[in-house]
Amino acid sequence: MQLGVCYYPEHWPEERWAQDARLMRQAGLTIVRIAEFAWAKMEPQPGVYDWGWLDRAIETLAAEGLKVVLGTPTATPPAWLVRAHPDVLPVDAQGRRRAFGSRRHYCSNAPIYRTLSEQIVRAMGQRYGQHPAVIAWQIDNEFGCHDTARCYCDHCAAAFRRWLQARYGTLAALNEAWGTVFWSQAYGDWEEIDPPHLTVTEANPSHVLDYERFSSDSVVAFQQLQLDVLRPLTPGRRLTTNFMGDFPDLNYHDLARSLDLATWDSYPTGFAEMNSAYAYPEWEQRPTYAYDVGDPYITGFCHAITHGTKRAPFWVMEQQCGHVNWATYNPGVRPAAVRLWTWHAALAGAEAVVYFRWRACRFAQEQHHSGLLNHDASPAIGLQAVHALREELPHLPAERKQAKIALLYSYEDLWAFQLQPHRKGFDYRRLCFAWWRALQRLGLEADLIPYDADLTGYEMILAPGAFLVSQQQAQALEQAVRAGATLVLGVRSGVKSSSNVVTDEPLPGVLRSLAGATVTAWHSLPPGVSMALSGTCLPEGNEAAVWAEALRPEPGTLALLRYRDGALAGAAALTEHALGAGRVLYLGWYPQFAQLEALLRQWANALGLMALDLPDGVLAAQRDGEWVVLNFNETARTLVLDGRTVELPGCEITKLGTRS
Ligand code: GAL
Ligand code: ZN
Repeated sequence: MQLGVCYYPEHWPEERWAQDARLMRQAGLTIVRIAEFAWAKMEPQPGVYDWGWLDRAIETLAAEGLKVVLGTPTATPPAWLVRAHPDVLPVDAQGRRRAFGSRRHYCSNAPIYRTLSEQIVRAMGQRYGQHPAVIAWQIDNEFGCHDTARCYCDHCAAAFRRWLQARYGTLAALNEAWGTVFWSQAYGDWEEIDPPHLTVTEANPSHVLDYERFSSDSVVAFQQLQLDVLRPLTPGRRLTTNFMGDFPDLNYHDLARSLDLATWDSYPTGFAEMNSAYAYPEWEQRPTYAYDVGDPYITGFCHAITHGTKRAPFWVMEQQCGHVNWATYNPGVRPAAVRLWTWHAALAGAEAVVYFRWRACRFAQEQHHSGLLNHDASPAIGLQAVHALREELPHLPAERKQAKIALLYSYEDLWAFQLQPHRKGFDYRRLCFAWWRALQRLGLEADLIPYDADLTGYEMILAPGAFLVSQQQAQALEQAVRAGATLVLGVRSGVKSSSNVVTDEPLPGVLRSLAGATVTAWHSLPPGVSMALSGTCLPEGNEAAVWAEALRPEPGTLALLRYRDGALAGAAALTEHALGAGRVLYLGWYPQFAQLEALLRQWANALGLMALDLPDGVLAAQRDGEWVVLNFNETARTLVLDGRTVELPGCEITKLGTRS
C-alpha cells in the first residue's frame, strides 16, 4: 500500500512548497496528485502557456522523492475560453444554459471544446509526459459530478442523432425499437429527434435510455480523446480517471475499459449522509455506526464497484481525512476514522490511498473542507493518523484475490429501473446494495462485476435485477451454471429487451429455460400488504412484501417456498432448477434484509463457502492466513471466529491467525 495526497501548489505561496514537500515525505507519503483544476494558470491566455510554476512545483516534489500524478485540467475551462466560445457551456434538463463560476461547465460534445481540450492535454503531455517523477495521469476530474453527465445542448442533439444512426441504421428500425407508434411519436426524419427533455409528461423510456447511453458514451469518447493524445507522449505511465463510487449516471464499466487503472474518491461521512436514502428503504431500519466513520457498507459498495470495473487493484484517488464541507452535518472526524478508512480500502483491494487534501484552503468554495494540515499549516487530525499509519503500512492487508461470489451489476438495468420503477422504493442500486451488504454481514467476499465479465471461477453468481438481459448474457450465465455455479435470479428478471421494451415471451423471457420456471403473475405490494411464505428454507412467519411474483416450476424444478395466502396463494415463491453441474434459483419476491441474509447463508454454506455471523458494522476477511477485522462501531463488539470468541474494541482493527 502506498499513501499519497492531493496538492494544490497554486493555492499557496511558492516559498512554502519546499516545506510542504518535506513534510509530505516525513509523513510517509509517496504520491502527490496535482494540477487537475489549473488550466487558467497553465494557459492564462489563449495559446499562451505558463509552465514555469508547474515545472518548479514538480521539481520541488521530485526533490523529496515524491511521485506525481498529473491531472488534465479539462473539468475547469478558463473564463477566456468560455467567453470566446459560450457554446461550450452545457444546457441542463430544464433547458437552461449553465454559467461560468464553479467547475464542470462544459459540454463534452462541443467541437471547439474537444479541440481545445486536446490542445491543452497535448501541451501538458509534451512537457511532462516523460518527466521521471510523473507516474500517472488523471483524466479530467469526476466526470458527471454536479449533474453534468447529461447535457441537452444543440451539439448534443446533433451528436445524439449521429449516435442513433450508427445504432439503428434506419429510422424504421428506430421507430420499431422505441415503439413510436404509441402516442403518434413516429419519426420521419432524423432531424425530428431531440434529446428527451421538457416533454409534457414522461418521455418515451426507450428514447431516454438511449439518451443515457449516448450521454455516457459521449463522456467515454471525451476521455478517449485525451487518452489518445497522452498515450504516445507518456510511455509507461498509468492513465486513469477518478470515479465517484456508486455514482449512477455514467457507465463506469465502459469508462474503465481503456484505462490502465481504476480509481475513486472516497468520502465516507459525506456519502453516508447523502446516499443512505437510496441504500436503506423506508421499510427497513437504518443502521448507525460511530458518528465519524460513515457507513462501512456504503463505502465498501463503492470500493467494490470500482474494483469490479477492472477486477484489479485500484486506488482511492481522494480519501477523506477530516471533515468535508458538502454534505449535511459534515461531522468532525477522529484519527481512528482515517485509519479505519485506509485499512478498509486495502481490504477492498486498493493499492494506493491518496488523501484529499494537503492543506485546508483559505478561500473560495471549499474553505470549510479539511486537509492533512489546517488553514494555518498546523497538523490536522488526518496528519496524526497518517504518521501512525506509516508504521503499520507493512501490515496492511495484501492484494485480494478473485472472490468466489460474483454480484452482477449493470448500468443499463439501473437506468431502466430508474425510468419505470413501477413501485415507489424499487431502486436497482438499493437492491444490489442490500445483496452486497448481506454478503458483507456474512463475511462473504464478492466481486461486483458487469455481465460481460469472465464468469470462470465463480461458484455463486447473483443477479438481483437482470431486467434487460440479452440472449448472449443469458448464454454466458447458462455456461457458468452448467460448469457448476449456483445462479440466483431476482424479481423482474428477463422482462425487457435492450431497447427497453417488454419481451413478447413468457417471463423471465430469455432466462426462462435457465430458471426452469415461468413467472405467471406479478404484484406490486403497497405498504402493509404481504403474503405468508411456507417451505423449509425460511422459518414460518416469513412474509413476502414489496413485490411478489408467482412462479410455475417446469417439471424437474423444485418449489422451495410457496405463497400460503393472498392473491398468489399456492404459487411457488422460490424455485430451484438443477442444470448441468450447477443450479439456478429464482427468488420470486423482493426480500427483506433478514430474509436475504438467511437465504444467502444457506446457499453459500451449501457450496462450502463459510458464512460468518458478523455484528453490524464489523467487516472481516481473510488475507495471507490471517483474519482482518474492522469494527466501525463506537463500542466493542463480540464475534465468534473459527470457534474463538473475540472481543473487538470500538473503532479498532484486529488481526487474528486463521485456524485452517
Ligand atoms: C471531490 C472533488 C474534489 C473536491 C472534493 C471535496 O468530489 O473531486 O475536487 O471538491 O470532492 O470533498
Ligand atoms: Zn451538450
